[in-house]
Amino acid sequence: MYSIETRCIHGSEHKNEDSNFAISYPIYQTASFSHLTPGHNPTGFDYSRESNPTRQYLEETVSSLEGACDSIAFSSGMAALSCFFDRFAPGDHIICGEDLYGGTVRLFDRIAKKNGLEIEYADTTDPKGLRKLIKDNTKAVYFETPTNPMMQVTDIEAVAKIAHERKILVCVDNTFMTPYFQNPIKEGADVVIHSGTKYLCGHNDTVCGFLCVADSELAADYRLLSKTTGATLGPFECWLCLRGLKTLSVRMERHKENAERVSEWLKGQSEVSEVFYVGSGMVSFYVKSKEKAVSILKNIKLITFAESLGGTESLLTYPTVQTHPDVPVTQKEKLGINDRLLRMSVGIESANDIIADLKQAFEAK
Ligand SMILES: Cc1ncc(COP(=O)(O)O)c(C=O)c1O
Repeated sequence: MYSIETRCIHGSEHKNEDSNFAISYPIYQTASFSHLTPGHNPTGFDYSRESNPTRQYLEETVSSLEGACDSIAFSSGMAALSCFFDRFAPGDHIICGEDLYGGTVRLFDRIAKKNGLEIEYADTTDPKGLRKLIKDNTKAVYFETPTNPMMQVTDIEAVAKIAHERKILVCVDNTFMTPYFQNPIKEGADVVIHSGTKYLCGHNDTVCGFLCVADSELAADYRLLSKTTGATLGPFECWLCLRGLKTLSVRMERHKENAERVSEWLKGQSEVSEVFYVGSGMVSFYVKSKEKAVSILKNIKLITFAESLGGTESLLTYPTVQTHPDVPVTQKEKLGINDRLLRMSVGIESANDIIADLKQAFEAK
């Protein structure tokens, strides 16, 4: 098998076999596909909600990167996550990491619970503690590692070992690390979720998501659900993601290099009380007051005050109001998501320019 750098560019093992020998995989911008005679459909493609050649090429590429047996490309990370939860039935108990993207918490609290799922938040960084929470109706453990925004790390292998003793599924949101830095399936996860909007697409220009599956039986269930509920990714966005993926390896190296420089610089600032950095391109930090946090957000010039992450441009986010407004206040307080917390997606501009911008924003009155 080719190395990951090569697979990012050339897709999975198969070559791009376009009939016109195009180097860039074509955008099959069609809703439907013609059949020769009833029952004779040589391409296997019927209707683009279900499958489309551009999407299939992207899905095979992502499967190759994640070591998955199948991957489904969705119109957003939330659509991928919804599909994962659609497979469960009322009364099923799901253990979820307690520090999660705010939209995921909203999905659980507003929709999954209404649909009868028993959602229990737990500290997945302590896998042994999980054992005590497992019940007869426990069907899955779901977590991010590292988490958004507090960068907590869970040992995937340890959780998978405990969960699999009871045939419980393990689902990991791998958005922050990407398959370039972490392969949850190789560590025992059954399902991997991505907000492909972030590093996979990588240019702050596309919203998409992935559900990657380790096992073909499970994959068949998610295929049925995705074609039925229909939030699959359109051909043009598939192509944008394929284009973004070609540079994933070089972007991730640069994101990491820049984020290391930024986190080191932040640690030396008297106005910064704590820095959370565990790899990849994401850094969270506390400043000493809410006023300072607001002043930094107002004064950055090169860095943009915006939500989202994982693109070429550096973005600074205020989690308590932007990404986590729907997380209950008590939970935010417990996790430390307060008005002094800033989260930075360190882009791939010059690290010197990024740090110079932070410096002037820290010093501005
Ligand atoms: C870790 C994580 N998972 C899932 C999502 C949801 O993805 P999307 O915005 O593509 O729907 C996000 C969005 O920020 C995220 O940060």
